[in-house]
Amino acid sequence: MRYGPVLAALVALILAGCAASGGRFEPSAELRELRAVRCDYPAARFAVFSDPHLYPRSLGTTGPAFQDYLARDRKLLVESEALLDAAVEEIGALDVDFVLVCGDLTKDGERVGHQLAAEKLQRLVDAGKPVFVVPGNHDIANAEALRYQGRHSFPVPTVSGSEFAEIYASFGYAAALERDPDSLSYLAEPVPGLWLLALDSCRWREQGERGDPITDGTIYPATRDWMETVLIRAKRQGKAVIAALHHGIVEHYPHNEKFYGQYLVDDFGYLGDMLSAHGVRMVFTGHFHAQDVTARTFADPRRTLYDIETGSTVTAPCPYRVVTIGPRQQARIRSRFITDIEGHGRDFGALAADNVYRGTIRLADGALAKYKVPAVDWRQLSPQIARAYVTHLAGDEKRPALVLQAADVGWWTRLVMWSQKDLVEGWYTDLPPADNDLCIDLIQ
Ligand SMILES: [Fe+2]
Ligand SMILES: [Fe+2]
Repeated sequence: MRYGPVLAALVALILAGCAASGGRFEPSAELRELRAVRCDYPAARFAVFSDPHLYPRSLGTTGPAFQDYLARDRKLLVESEALLDAAVEEIGALDVDFVLVCGDLTKDGERVGHQLAAEKLQRLVDAGKPVFVVPGNHDIANAEALRYQGRHSFPVPTVSGSEFAEIYASFGYAAALERDPDSLSYLAEPVPGLWLLALDSCRWREQGERGDPITDGTIYPATRDWMETVLIRAKRQGKAVIAALHHGIVEHYPHNEKFYGQYLVDDFGYLGDMLSAHGVRMVFTGHFHAQDVTARTFADPRRTLYDIETGSTVTAPCPYRVVTIGPRQQARIRSRFITDIEGHGRDFGALAADNVYRGTIRLADGALAKYKVPAVDWRQLSPQIARAYVTHLAGDEKRPALVLQAADVGWWTRLVMWSQKDLVEGWYTDLPPADNDLCIDLIQ
């Protein structure tokens, strides 16, 4: 075995945590002047779901090409239509003022997928529940928009940024109080007195008309300026603000930035500082498909920002959340899980959990093979890695006594285990507060 390139890859992986979380936000003179202004949250109740990754079955769900793709993926794509139907039906029956969807509406930005998603979301609007979407990294100008037939896959039309806003006109863009001219971000007022800052954190502009999707997220400088202008106006008009974006804005586990930095928005420290300095307490996110709430407290003045990440409807435990803001300036968050979909009996929850567990074992095998770990060692390590990941996705993680152990393995496998120990431990570490059912104090 030639260890040179493998060692170099390992060192690069270990050092990958050097990406910046951004500097400190400097409040403008205008903000300093408005600092004492408190904007109370009005009573509101809303549902949140994320990453429905809709894949129309008409694009092909049989044959070796599709099966090959599924083997490299962990999403319940074949069931994605039934899962979105179930989410729409369950949320439609709730007494909520509006619904937030935190991006990755489609498998890979297929135009027919977006059109079908819009058709299904329309049922919520028709039931008097306005829907607000933000784009995810899979949704726009994506070269991986494909249909599958037999042994082959074929490109299908994707959407441009403007087409995305057209298709989702009824889900935020048409009724926006204001749209950012430089991105697909917008401002809405779903409940009188409550502003929703719906942010486009995706880098689809850099992918060209049809390019490789970029997983990482950013908020470009022009959009940051627009955000600040809107946030100052919110203070002047006495509006309380919540925000939504696809990428995380607070680390969700220790070493999140080091191992999976592309799941956090660039300069997340700076952006979190900026939002919380303007009075934003809750940011709703998706992307990593985990049920995870984390908080970051900034100083001078002291304030806390909560990143409420909602898991994916196509990944166990197939969750959605209901948020109730009460008169005492507290937000109560409850999570529900889709356990019953058309075409499946009561075994669906177990099938969904098994799908992500087995899918993660396959991906872990592939990653260990890349690091030249002998195949005989994968059988010990991959199930442990998969258990940690699945535990993190469900939220409210409990750390077992031993996180990653192996018997009779060589020094190279031990070195790889050592380099990945922080990641596996991180997935088992539940940073406060609770993830599924919790109460957030909005006055701090
Ligand atoms: Fe996703
Ligand atoms: Fe994503």
